[in-house]
Amino acid sequence: MSGPKIPLAGVIGSPIAHSKSPLLHGTWLRKMGLPGHYVPMDVAPEDFEQVLRTLPKAGFVGVNVTVPHKEAAIRLADVVTDRATLIGAANTLIFLEDGRIHADNTDGYGFIENLRQNAPDWDANAGPAAVLGAGGAARAVLASLLDAGVPEIFLSNRTRVRAEALQSDFGTKIKVVDWVQAGNMLEDSATVVNTTSLGMVGQQELRVPLDGLQKGALVTDLVYNPLQTRLLREAEEMGCVTVDGLGMLIHQAVPGFERWFGQRPVVDADIRAVLLR
Ligand code: ATR
Repeated sequence: MSGPKIPLAGVIGSPIAHSKSPLLHGTWLRKMGLPGHYVPMDVAPEDFEQVLRTLPKAGFVGVNVTVPHKEAAIRLADVVTDRATLIGAANTLIFLEDGRIHADNTDGYGFIENLRQNAPDWDANAGPAAVLGAGGAARAVLASLLDAGVPEIFLSNRTRVRAEALQSDFGTKIKVVDWVQAGNMLEDSATVVNTTSLGMVGQQELRVPLDGLQKGALVTDLVYNPLQTRLLREAEEMGCVTVDGLGMLIHQAVPGFERWFGQRPVVDADIRAVLLR
């Protein structure tokens, strides 16, 4: 073999067939004319560590990790960014030349970049935020909203104890609201985020009374299939600014791609269209 090494990267999860990451990275590689490959890997939890230790020797420069490996990835990493530590999970690993594994979590970054790109007038400081859901995605959203300067966050989840657990991790700016009263917290909120899986294809709709929502509030949904959820449709009808979740998926991939393949990809209508095909 001769010539420069072709960088390899990929995504490890289980199941992995549904992942849009290979299409996303593969399209960017081709469009930008860069050498490299990005492959999906279905790996069971008991094999995860061995696979991770083998990949750098096989020419991999890093990987994305998804369910169920995001927490294990943090434990196995040698260097962990502050935001990944705060979220307690990693989605982007870089295999350093000295053999160490660097772990980052770019979900919160992707969430904020999506708002900045699609709602440029959004101001984190404009008022409290309301977050629905308290799973893994909510952790990334809370961390990034606080980092962006949101003064206070109302947090509501069907299972209240999960919201309370996030409150004890993230501090007194988080106020827990009962799930049955989730509609009330929207009245004072400048930013509203659905991080639950409700509204996703095959799931029930998210039904929360929006009557108190302020005109001009920003409403965003992490669900991107369908692109326009009931929440976004109703919020738009009420004159709110709405942002769908597809951009978060795309933006969270940018830091890893840039690090592995050497150039920063562009997030535009073309790449959105590819992912919607
Ligand atoms: P993710 O990592 O995508 O956040 P998760 O950790 O499984 O996934 O969290 C899913 C979120 O959707 C949770 O907030 C969950 O509420 P519970 O903590 O009460 O389970 C929420 N969710 C899922 N199905 C729901 C339903 N039918 N009604 C209300 N909330 C639901």
